[in-house]
Amino acid sequence: RKRVLSGVQPTGSLHLGNYLGAIRQWVKNQDEYESFFCVVDLHAITAPHDPKRLRQETIEAAALYLAAGIDPSKSTIFVQSHVLAHTELTWLLNCVTPMNWLERMIQFKEKAIKQGENVGVGLFDYPILMAADILLYQADLVPVGEDQRQHLELTRDIARRFNDQFCNKKAKRRKVFRDPAALIVTEGARVMSLLDGTSKMSKSAENDGSRINLLDSPDTIRAKIKRCKTDASLGLEWDNPARPECTNLLNIYLAVTEGAGATKESVLEEVAGMNWGAFKPVLTEAVVAHLEPIQRKYRQVMEDPEHIEQILTQGATDADAIASQTLGWAKDAMGFYSLGRK
Ligand code: TYM
Repeated sequence: RKRVLSGVQPTGSLHLGNYLGAIRQWVKNQDEYESFFCVVDLHAITAPHDPKRLRQETIEAAALYLAAGIDPSKSTIFVQSHVLAHTELTWLLNCVTPMNWLERMIQFKEKAIKQGENVGVGLFDYPILMAADILLYQADLVPVGEDQRQHLELTRDIARRFNDQFCNKKAKRRKVFRDPAALIVTEGARVMSLLDGTSKMSKSAENDGSRINLLDSPDTIRAKIKRCKTDASLGLEWDNPARPECTNLLNIYLAVTEGAGATKESVLEEVAGMNWGAFKPVLTEAVVAHLEPIQRKYRQVMEDPEHIEQILTQGATDADAIASQTLGWAKDAMGFYSLGRK
């Protein structure tokens, strides 16, 4: 069976972009693949964070994985900082990765501008920690949104460089790392802001009206969609470059009705003739209906914190078994002295 690894940062509440771009794919594929889903708390501290909230946000993110349909009897759910190999492999990979590979990362450049002069080394190193996450589990596939494509390519480059350098014919060693591929969906891979159809829906945007959080109440969702940016054209259409908001809202509508059999064609048939005033309530109800069962399950899950802890404890044990093994191979290949071994 192919192996999957992915993760979401526990910063603030997760939004529709995280769900449609990533988590929904995890749920869909968990029967087919051996899956590892990680709450990447070590990544969450690469931007200024609130120590009083990190623990709770980590638990909430794990609860949302469960509420969205990740089944702990099929998939491993764990917290990144509970498996020490992530930080250790990051250091090893730091020492085989050229600085200029990281300097090219678009997301670093974007986030660094926001953090100004105080931008931390951790933010620069973020993609290597992500590479370590993926490579430790020998993942074949990594289901993520479009914005993570470049990080995935970097991960492959790092894996190849390590294998070439330390696992060549001369060293008579099998490759330590497997080449992972990005798994990026066509719909939902890039959910855009409600206030600007050309920028990504994101947790860090200051205006909460720009995103739909998975735990927003129906009233909040209604209000956000009511105020979202539209245009003055008549009718609704897909992929008109002059109407990015229109494409985005149709994409969201399709993504949340797909489960009920909707296709691009059926959506067009239904809504092409509508104006914004008619479409917005239809979209609102579809989003609310899609999130309702997730929210209900979330409340249930959160009522039993011990159960969440049990799942994360088991998850850490299972993840650690695999991660430690890969880490051991990597250290052997690099020539570290390991006690008790000749
Ligand atoms: P994060 O928390 O920023 O995003 C989590 C996932 O959500 C996707 N995503 C989106 N998809 C569609 N439209 C959007 N507007 C949108 N915003 C976010 C992201 O692509 C991602 O899949 N660096 C990763 C976390 C990570 C990771 C990993 C992922 C750390 N280690 C290992 C995979 C494998 C991230 O972007 O987190």
